[in-house]
Amino acid sequence: MNTTPINSTIVSQKIKESGIKEVGKASIREIKRLVDQIEKATGEKFIRMEMGIPGLPPNTFGVETQIEALENGVAAIYPDIQGIAPLKTEISTFVKNFLNVDVNPEGCLPTVGSMQGSFASFLALSRIYKERNTTLFIDPGFPVHKMQHKVLNLNYETFDVYNYRGEALREKLESYFSKGHIHSVIYSNPNNPSWICFTENELKIIGDLANKYDVVVMEDLAYFAMDFRKDYSQPGKAPFQPSVAQYTDNYILFISSSKAFSYAGERIGMMVISDGLFQRKFENLLNFYVTDGFGYSMVFGTIYPLSSGTSHSAQYGLYGILKAANEGKFNFVEEVKIYGRKAKVMKQLFTDNGFEIVYDKDENEPIADGFYFTFSYPGMSGVELLNELVYYGISAISLAITGSERIEGIRACTSLVKESQFGDLEYRLKAFHQHHNG
Ligand SMILES: Cc1ncc(COP(=O)(O)O)c(C=O)c1O
Repeated sequence: MNTTPINSTIVSQKIKESGIKEVGKASIREIKRLVDQIEKATGEKFIRMEMGIPGLPPNTFGVETQIEALENGVAAIYPDIQGIAPLKTEISTFVKNFLNVDVNPEGCLPTVGSMQGSFASFLALSRIYKERNTTLFIDPGFPVHKMQHKVLNLNYETFDVYNYRGEALREKLESYFSKGHIHSVIYSNPNNPSWICFTENELKIIGDLANKYDVVVMEDLAYFAMDFRKDYSQPGKAPFQPSVAQYTDNYILFISSSKAFSYAGERIGMMVISDGLFQRKFENLLNFYVTDGFGYSMVFGTIYPLSSGTSHSAQYGLYGILKAANEGKFNFVEEVKIYGRKAKVMKQLFTDNGFEIVYDKDENEPIADGFYFTFSYPGMSGVELLNELVYYGISAISLAITGSERIEGIRACTSLVKESQFGDLEYRLKAFHQHHNG
């Protein structure tokens, strides 16, 4: 029997104690707990790639502005449900500066994380048409969005975009849209978990078909401007973060502050509704809300009963961040480029040791190095691979829970891995390859 980098007796014992039948099938949180326990018992540090959490200090512009707001007493006062006026204006300016898109501040809404923005949107969009009852997921995707559908008892359909890149995406989307039951479509770009980024050509296909079939596009920009192959960091200057908003006026954007601004703890994100959609009236909304106006129903019929708006001081924090970015005082992209630099080295270590990158191309171009990447090992399923990798001090999650059909695939998150651990990672991957190669 081979000696594994982490004491195999302890690993097996901890797996048994955890009650987890197969590590490869466990949820992110279960894996986290198991690895915490193995680390404690062995004194060894894992290469932890299971959780998609930011690994950087919080944004200082945010913290300072938020503290000032708290000292000024905002904690005692309910914020406006639609968001405080200065923040709404700053979001609108941000969207103009970094996406080159015009949106009235009215449709720029702070939400309790981007998570609440999607929850509220799923709820409202499921009610716009009597005869349409389904959301389409362009997968792989963020598992919590599906969980939100389950909690809300909403229908969804999904397909893995792996085989439908470029022109092939048109026919695939049309095969769903043409049936007449889809009210909206969602994807993340850059994509969690695969880090693929749609090309302009693909975004145009999505936008054109949204226009043709009158489907609302929810574009999740949780990793805003983090495709580091291009520099999207300069306010008001091209290139801009690519977006479907260039091709349709039928959209909602979710812009998280968690990763791009390292502000996950304050649970504040942005929901940006196009002017056209915000003003639009849908007769079916009258069955649920006091008006048929989409924007009004979103603010006063959906966000209001969910949380009565978003933390007052966090709104000031986000305002401080956006103002600094808009004025060119804070290059938020530079701050997070470290994730890309780490991914480049880590991907190389994996491929040097017999692993393969699963989602590896955007049409003809190699994918960017960023927050996540996906990998596999020949001859093993993702579940088998994860089961084994714990003995080598490496933890990650299976792509199976993300709507991916690539059952061999694993998602790795770069954020928590320290550069000082690269030596350990190399040693462990080499050992794995030696033990499994033929
Ligand atoms: C694709 C995607 N969407 C949304 C979120 C949630 O963002 P927030 O922290 O703003 O709620 C995440 C966080 O991991 C994500 O990866």
